[in-house]
Amino acid sequence: MDKIFADNILQGKVAFVTGGGTGITGGVARAFAEHGAKLAIVSRKIENLEAMKAEVEAFGGECFTVAADVREYEAVENAIKQTVDHYGKIDIVVNGAAGNFLCAADQLSPNGFGTVVDIDTKGTFNVCRASFEALKESKGQILNISATLHYLATPMQIHVSAAKAGVDAITRNLSVEWGRHGIRVNGIAPGPIEDTEGMKRLLMPELKDKLVKKIPIGRFGRIADIENAALFLTSDAASYVNGVTLVVDGGSWLLGTSLM
Ligand code: COA
Repeated sequence: MDKIFADNILQGKVAFVTGGGTGITGGVARAFAEHGAKLAIVSRKIENLEAMKAEVEAFGGECFTVAADVREYEAVENAIKQTVDHYGKIDIVVNGAAGNFLCAADQLSPNGFGTVVDIDTKGTFNVCRASFEALKESKGQILNISATLHYLATPMQIHVSAAKAGVDAITRNLSVEWGRHGIRVNGIAPGPIEDTEGMKRLLMPELKDKLVKKIPIGRFGRIADIENAALFLTSDAASYVNGVTLVVDGGSWLLGTSLM
């Protein structure tokens, strides 16, 4: 897809992106770098970050990689510190690290439920909390990657629905508490995005054809759709947007696209 925004809209910014090696958040990280930001990308395993680092460096961008499990506060604090030591500041934090699998509620173990809540919800809080001082200093911002699963109900996804409802609460609360420090906090709720591992893993091909018919815009989303929303929300064009979770789903959730 051709670039929509000017190349330099994030020039000079430093973006700290969890889950920034792959998938939707990987696309967001790469798009930030293509628009001038210096990246720090974070994953549990450093090898999940190597391909993105190579890709960003190939077009002349800067990409620092840090291994940390967002569930562990000390590891997150250390990743933030390493990034500030490396670049001198952090302007944008993206919480994209997430866990997901399909499981019926009556089959899901308490630990399975808790694991996803720990990664998505507690992980988001941990990263926000640990980056507060750096963001206060830079008058920066946070972007939380959420979902639309919990707007209605999504069978086989009780754990992720609960976790993302918590993420949305974090977005709203921090936007109010930290707005006065000049920190904007927003989110994006992607709908069904075609070119992701998650979609390949979660959706059987026969269901895809049925599902696309239910999407008001008539197509699946693309990672580029989320990249563009993220560029808008993190750019100065959105300097008065705070506490919003922007739904980017072609209008799907309004009709209810669940097939399970
Ligand atoms: N179905 C049901 N339960 C599952 C499960 C599945 N597919 N995958 C994990 N669990 C349960 C485990 O059984 C375990 O519970 P138990 O101790 O009661 O048995 C609990 O979740 C923790 O599992 P474990 O594998 O030890 O956790 P982990 O921290 O290593 O990884 C995930 C958890 C969710 C991150 C892992 O499933 C994963 O790697 N998923 C792929 C990454 C991903 O989904 N990324 C996000 C795309 S949106």
